Amino acid sequence: MSGLHRRLTDEDSKVSLEVNPIYVGQVPPGEIPRYRIPDGPLPADTAAAIIRDQLMFDGNARLNMATFCTTWMEPQARALFSDCLDRNIVDRDQYPQTAELENRCVNILDNLWNGPGGRGLGCSTGGSSEAALLGALALKFQWRNRRRAAGLPTDRPNLVMGTNVHTTWHKFCRYWDVELREVPINPKTLAIDPPGVVAQCDENTIGAIAVLGSTQLGMYDPVAEISAALDRFQANTGIDVPMHVDAAVGGLIAPFTEPDRVWDFRLDRVQSINTSGHKFGLVYPGVGWIVWSHPERVPEDLIFQTNLLGGEMKSFTLNFSRSGAPVIAQYYNFLRLGFDGYRAVQRACLDVAQGLAERITTNPFLEVLSGGTDVPVVTVRVPPDFTDFTAAQVADRLRLHGWQIPAYYLPKAMDDVCVLRFVVRNGFTQETTEMLVNDLRDATAFLERGAAARHTHTLAEINF
Ligand SMILES: Cc1ncc(COP(=O)(O)O)c(C=O)c1O
Repeated sequence: MSGLHRRLTDEDSKVSLEVNPIYVGQVPPGEIPRYRIPDGPLPADTAAAIIRDQLMFDGNARLNMATFCTTWMEPQARALFSDCLDRNIVDRDQYPQTAELENRCVNILDNLWNGPGGRGLGCSTGGSSEAALLGALALKFQWRNRRRAAGLPTDRPNLVMGTNVHTTWHKFCRYWDVELREVPINPKTLAIDPPGVVAQCDENTIGAIAVLGSTQLGMYDPVAEISAALDRFQANTGIDVPMHVDAAVGGLIAPFTEPDRVWDFRLDRVQSINTSGHKFGLVYPGVGWIVWSHPERVPEDLIFQTNLLGGEMKSFTLNFSRSGAPVIAQYYNFLRLGFDGYRAVQRACLDVAQGLAERITTNPFLEVLSGGTDVPVVTVRVPPDFTDFTAAQVADRLRLHGWQIPAYYLPKAMDDVCVLRFVVRNGFTQETTEMLVNDLRDATAFLERGAAARHTHTLAEINF
């Protein structure tokens, strides 16, 4: 199970590290245990070399189209990042300038998201997951405070979201005991519909989540339309349902590529927005951001005051210590690229994604579902009437060429559809598209030949 590691039995953990004999003379005699701390030290260069040898088996990040996360930064950014790794973001007394750069980033984001001037409040986080959890906690506490003040019960909160949300929202509901109310995605628009959101809301709804760039399909939920539907719902019922926009993917794309799209703090109902600095913010992991449009949207009882590190500090976070390097690298990107630079980078990704989608339409064994119109994500499926091979088999064949492409089933309402997803990130060019399209064509042709042969021959006769 990824991320949760089991302690091996004493017998199984007796394995030693395999050390290249070329390091002769650099390692002490005897074995170096793999799962126990070694008895003594190793020279620094040898320890680093042994680890590098093992890391070689990790995938090539530039061929990884599965991840949304940044896998390349300019050498200057990388150098700055490594110079700043030792700064602890929570230690504002020791690193006031790091705190100031975080402050500038929050201001830049609030401005990009059209916050009502001088009112926004926000912070960096470890990623969008932490940011989303903070946003949801603020919704829950506000709702509870309102209900308590009115003498109403507070034991059955619910949160409304599409089936297209990221797992982090399911986590919130389970960990914080909130009922999860799901709105199925519309197979035509590949996003949720406003009436579906309204249908799930009642007086116990702490908020509604809209996604700006879904993880599964890369499509934007119609934020402004959902907000308008909730305005009408409020006019009819008196129930005010605030919105949070999970812009993990699109929060640093839409402001540059579609500045006229209204999805942000221009809508008063949108009270908070999160994004991942380490996705289209173009920073190495891990940094996320959350901004609330008004300070009163973060209930006071969520904010902690500590003086453990010297001066008095206020914070609203789930973890405490974290490196300031990604925050500094985020500020570097804002300063380095400016509005025009970000627009050029994101526009190029969209162009490549749309070009990729167009090229894939010439492959008769694949059908494009989402083609990089919103964020640079392309999803394709094997046509439903075609049963000779599956999307997962295509992904397997692409692995042979080094491509890491996930194949997965879509959420409810489309859960019989298995897709391949290609995330186009900075650095992915028309030339790489060409390579990918050729490899895709070879993969599907190979699988088709195998299927055709199976139809007419026994397996033993098939000669690939
Ligand atoms: C829409 C959405 N929300 C939240 C997350 C979680 O983001 P992070 O990996 O920054 O914690 C993701 C990750 O892909 C996402 O796509």
